[in-house]
Amino acid sequence: MSESFGEHIRLTLFGASHGPAVGAFVTGLPAGEAVDPAALQRFLDRRAPGRGGAASTARKEPDHPEFLSGLSPSGVLDGTPLCALVRNLDTRSGDYAALASVPRPGHADFPARAKYGDAFDPRGGGHFSARLTAGLCIAGGIAKQLLARRGIFVGAHLLSVGPLSFTPFDPVAVSREDLEAVEPAKYSLSVADAARAEELTALFERVRAVGDSVGGSIECCVLGLPAGLGEPHFGGLESRISAAVFGIPAVKAVAFGEGENAARLSGSENNDAYFFDEAGAVRTRTNHAGGILGGLATGMPLLFRAAVKPTPSIALPQESVDLAKREAATLSVRGRHDACVVPRAVACVEAAAAFAILDTLNPEGN
Ligand SMILES: Cc1cc2nc3c(=O)[nH]c(=O)nc-3n(C[C@H](O)[C@H](O)[C@H](O)COP(=O)(O)O)c2cc1C
Repeated sequence: MSESFGEHIRLTLFGASHGPAVGAFVTGLPAGEAVDPAALQRFLDRRAPGRGGAASTARKEPDHPEFLSGLSPSGVLDGTPLCALVRNLDTRSGDYAALASVPRPGHADFPARAKYGDAFDPRGGGHFSARLTAGLCIAGGIAKQLLARRGIFVGAHLLSVGPLSFTPFDPVAVSREDLEAVEPAKYSLSVADAARAEELTALFERVRAVGDSVGGSIECCVLGLPAGLGEPHFGGLESRISAAVFGIPAVKAVAFGEGENAARLSGSENNDAYFFDEAGAVRTRTNHAGGILGGLATGMPLLFRAAVKPTPSIALPQESVDLAKREAATLSVRGRHDACVVPRAVACVEAAAAFAILDTLNPEGN
């Protein structure tokens, strides 16, 4: 089932944008671990619609998770299947009337209709809506808490938006404090770029004013992975993490360490030389590998980037087709949409990475 991810700890996403709720069903979580509800809510708020300033949709959803099972009244995982949902409270389905037979270029409407026929619910993108990432963030937010208890920290930040580039993490010296500083920052900018929030606001406003949208990229880091964690070949850390991250709508590329640039380097430039640090641990002077060799963690910071495309639903007129009338149509997408989904996708990338790492770690030995 493609809505499911994970070998040992299994996550299934369910729901649709304009249905009663969206959520997550997770099996294999370790019993007896407390979940901090305030930290989880802060994490979910980073993804929730309506809080991303000029970038974000005007749809306002509180996204308070309700736990139907798996969590005791005192907030401890009980080891049974966890079912959590957030209700859809601010739907305006009328906005989607025009889309009943005219697919939005760039969204999943056309292939989804080809697959599911009239059973497809196009309102808000139905099951293909990024609203489904609320469930991912519940599961990933819990995974982040479980990992932190084991000395593993996951954090991401904005790396670029349209023409604007931001400061990447230091691939060798990135610290837990660098990751934690992103959480309260506007648009999930790093400390080094916090002062550039207004530049971003101006870009989002310009793009929205002309009825267009803009994409960007996210950098994610995992600290504290023990050297050797992972599996070779198809089950390697790169495969597992990218499979989870590609589950986030609008992600179009994932690259680890030097990524594509490695193809342009010589061996002497790309190899990371080893040395013993003061504590006697094996470290590397550089980190072109992004913390992964042979699918296994090297013990250096794990670093990857995700490229996110511009929001497909735009007000500018676009060429489409009316599938019912079988004639050409021009579509200006109405409704409330993100001018740029990248700031909200930062928490989604953290969630996907954290869940993939927890599944690889398999703390229960499932
Ligand atoms: C956090 C987030 C918010 C999104 N918001 C919107 C939106 O408001 N309007 C829209 O058309 N697409 C939005 N998207 C992107 C679509 O969901 C996505 O492009 C679509 O499902 C097709 O999937 P694909 O781009 O992966 O092929 C959003 C994506 C994310 C991650």
